[in-house]
Amino acid sequence: MRVIVAKTLEEMGKEAGAIVAEGMRAKPHYVLGLATGDTPKPLYRELIRLHKEEDLDFSTTVSFNLDEYIGLPATHDQSYRYFMDHELFNHVNIVKANTHVPDGMTDDVETHCLVYEATIEDVGGIDCQVLGIGRNGHIGFNEPGSSLASRTRAVDLTESTIEANAPHFPNPEDMPRRAITMGIGTILESEKIIMLACGPKKAAAVAAALEGPVCVKCPASALQLHPDVTFVVTEDAATGLTLKFRR
Ligand code: GLP
Repeated sequence: MRVIVAKTLEEMGKEAGAIVAEGMRAKPHYVLGLATGDTPKPLYRELIRLHKEEDLDFSTTVSFNLDEYIGLPATHDQSYRYFMDHELFNHVNIVKANTHVPDGMTDDVETHCLVYEATIEDVGGIDCQVLGIGRNGHIGFNEPGSSLASRTRAVDLTESTIEANAPHFPNPEDMPRRAITMGIGTILESEKIIMLACGPKKAAAVAAALEGPVCVKCPASALQLHPDVTFVVTEDAATGLTLKFRR
C-alpha cells in the first residue's frame, strides 16, 4: 500500500484530488465511490476547485456513496444524501440522477441493498473508492466484527461510532442506531481505493489498518488484501506508523 503523509488538511485534499482527477480525466463515465464525515471535506473542496478552475468535468461521472443512516430522510441535515448534495454535488456539473446514496427511508432494506449492489455491477463496478476511517477502524459502517466478505446490508452501529457521531445531532439521542452500508467485500471490488485520515484520534486505527494483522477487529485492515490502495493521511494521523511508511 502507498502512504502519502500530508502536512495540512488542504494538502491531504490536493493529493487525493489529484488521484481522483487523473482517473476521471482518463476514463469517461468514471464511477466514484464516495464517503461522508469531516475527513473527505478537503477532498471535495479540491474537486470543486478543479471543476471551477481546471475544467474537471463531472457530466458523465457516476457516484455511489458508502452508507446512510436508517430513518433519516434526504432532507435531514445529518443524512448523508444531504451532506453529499451540499459538500459536493451542488457545486459541480454531476447529473443528480447519476448519484447514488443508499435510501435510509426504504421500507424494504433487503431488496434495496440487493438493488444497490446490482446497480454498481451494471455500471461496471467502482473505479475509485474514497474512504474515511472510524476511530475503531470501521470503513463505511462496517464495524469491528464485520465479515471481510460482507456485502451491502443493514447494520447496528457500535457505541464508539454513536459517541463519535451523535454530537453532530442537535439532540444527540436522535442519532439513528442503524445504517445501511456497502460491505467490506463490496469495497474491496473497487479498482482503486483512497483512504483519507486526519487527526490524532485516527492514529491508532491507521496504524492497525496498515501494519496490524488482517483481522475483523479492524475492518480497514482488509485493505491490505487489495492491490491498489493509497492512504493519504495528515502527520498527526500517521504517528503510529513505522518509518518504512513515512514519506
Ligand atoms: C462515519 C462514516 C464513515 C466515516 C467515519 C469517519 O461513521 N460512516 O464512512 O469514514 O465515520 O468520520 P469522520 O471523517 O467525520 O471522522
